Amino acid sequence: MPDQAGSPETGSPDALPAAELLALDRQHVWHPYGPMPGRQEPLVVASASGVRLRLAEPSQGHGELVDGMSSWWSAIHGYNHPALNEAVTGQLGRMSHVMFGGLTHEPAVRLAAKLVELTPAGLEHVFLADSGSVSVEVAVKMCLQYWRSVGRPEKSRLLTWRGGYHGDTWQPMAVCDPEGGMHELWSGILPRQLFADAPPSGFSAPVDESYVAHLRSLFAAHRDELAAVIVEPVVQGAGGMRFHNPGYLRVLRELCDEYGVLLILDEIATGFGRTGALFAADHAGITPDVMCLGKALTGGYLTLAATLCTERVADGISQGEVPVLAHGPTFMGNPLATSVALASIDLLLGQDWQGEVKRIEAGLLEGLAPAADLPGVREVRVLGAIGVIQLDHPVDMARATAAAVREGVWLRPFRDLIYTMPPFVTADADVARICRAVMAAAKEA
Ligand SMILES: Cc1ncc(COP(=O)(O)O)c(C=O)c1O
Repeated sequence: MPDQAGSPETGSPDALPAAELLALDRQHVWHPYGPMPGRQEPLVVASASGVRLRLAEPSQGHGELVDGMSSWWSAIHGYNHPALNEAVTGQLGRMSHVMFGGLTHEPAVRLAAKLVELTPAGLEHVFLADSGSVSVEVAVKMCLQYWRSVGRPEKSRLLTWRGGYHGDTWQPMAVCDPEGGMHELWSGILPRQLFADAPPSGFSAPVDESYVAHLRSLFAAHRDELAAVIVEPVVQGAGGMRFHNPGYLRVLRELCDEYGVLLILDEIATGFGRTGALFAADHAGITPDVMCLGKALTGGYLTLAATLCTERVADGISQGEVPVLAHGPTFMGNPLATSVALASIDLLLGQDWQGEVKRIEAGLLEGLAPAADLPGVREVRVLGAIGVIQLDHPVDMARATAAAVREGVWLRPFRDLIYTMPPFVTADADVARICRAVMAAAKEA
């Protein structure tokens, strides 16, 4: 049945007709990871509320779609949330933006203090960046500059494991998996970083000592040139939606300490509860030297990311020959974004978020279990509010997306993966519906 219930408001009264808007879109607008003009027509979203995206024109009988993606994993509280709206509009009346060089303001200061309080003990300093990729650039710059500052400029290479994704700007691209990833095109031009094998799969699979030995051999062979290790903790997202035992993070922490290498955890996708812990590092009980946050930081309202570091890293940089971190985006610490981030964190911590994530996990486990018997399905995996079906062949994206829309759900499959990361406020019936859509997409793909 078409789902027309509970429609949020439509777009503005002078909104362009959808056909005209799509024609202009096709003519002028570059979409993520797309050619110009795009080959697949996007759906036009007029408004969004709760977990529903309201379409400008119905698609396959549905005027609204349940969002199974949280807008690339950021909108954990859903859309049009009164508390988040209030945070933005309240701040708008005071000041939408002011430069951060030589000036400061309460939302940014309070947010930095809050992040220090919530993240693993020992992370003390916060650099506010404007996107996840930029926060990774800053993390890498911090580590490289640290070693220069302490008189070890030869320590300038990064180690990561395969299957990772860290963003689309230059340094992040260099540590994305070079094979099968989105940045293969640039091999030979990007800085050549060091890649370990992908960590063995399975959140609960025992730690594999032969893999630990493999990691150790890379540290031992490259200790003099390694500045930092960078990994996504527990869940590798856009590089393949794979989960690993948090024990490998403890191993990395120990090896970094033993061989004099800094540890960067990229928690841009995992931060703020997605895996069932507030930060994935908490599963392992470790503190990295540098941590990146983004995506759900603002509840998906505005673009903001943060790079946190320890006293040691900050001191090293600040006592070096060039005693400053030379980075300062125009919109650094934006007051609207930092205000809504504070409100989003309050909203998250003010509820039983762990219970909600567990509830969604249970719904995904139940709803996706039958997928294991579908032809073409290699594996079904669930962790926290993340549900994944991996196929044994590449997804036919157009067919899979259309199959999900027929079920009244928005999904965005990639490679051989059909997955969901729903908002934490998704009701049980909608989780079940998302699961039906994931299964339908898997059958069509
Ligand atoms: C783990 C991880 N790091 C970095 C990024 C890049 O973040 P942004 O898209 O905000 O630049 C992403 C985005 O998907 C991510 O998942």
